[in-house]
Amino acid sequence: MILGVGTDLANIDRISGVFKRHGDRFRKRVFTETEQRKSERRKDVAATYAKRWAAKEACSKALGTGLRMGISWKDMAVSNLNTGQPVMSVTGWAEERLISMTPNGYRATIHVSLTDDHPWAQAFVIIEAQLLP
Ligand SMILES: CC(C)(COP(=O)(O)OP(=O)(O)OC[C@H]1O[C@@H](n2cnc3c(N)ncnc32)[C@H](O)[C@@H]1OP(=O)(O)O)[C@@H](O)C(=O)NCCC(=O)NCCS
Repeated sequence: MILGVGTDLANIDRISGVFKRHGDRFRKRVFTETEQRKSERRKDVAATYAKRWAAKEACSKALGTGLRMGISWKDMAVSNLNTGQPVMSVTGWAEERLISMTPNGYRATIHVSLTDDHPWAQAFVIIEAQLLP
């Protein structure tokens, strides 16, 4: 069963501009250490951050909350499997929201897919509920 779907398109140049203006403060407030490590060692640093930004926005849409003031961006975090496949993990308010939208007897899985082609970074998120055995 599909519980939620979200998508977002982020402009890589706009993200670059925010980094130039706010630097470390923005980076540390929005991105987990894993996301920072992955992005900082990439050739296209801004594009890697922009995909993760888009993923957070898309996830908040799939959770049905959108991004409100005061929520922690780091509670929606992207990591990568050895194959490169991205994985979205939720903690704090986002995990609470995921639990509250999952019917009893089901387990929720968050699927995420990312892509970029300058100047755009795109993310899709689907939240699926699977019946527990
Ligand atoms: C997955 C693949 C099609 C991505 O295509 P691309 O045009 O280079 O890049 P895109 O901009 O469209 O997408 C990049 C995103 O795809 C996602 N991705 C990478 N590998 C993936 C995989 N195996 N499954 C699903 N998504 C994957 C990642 O989120 C990546 O962004 P990120 O690294 O910043 O998280 C390409 O890398 C590929 O064919 N990989 C398979 C071969 C390979 O290198 N395998 C590695 C070890 S098995």
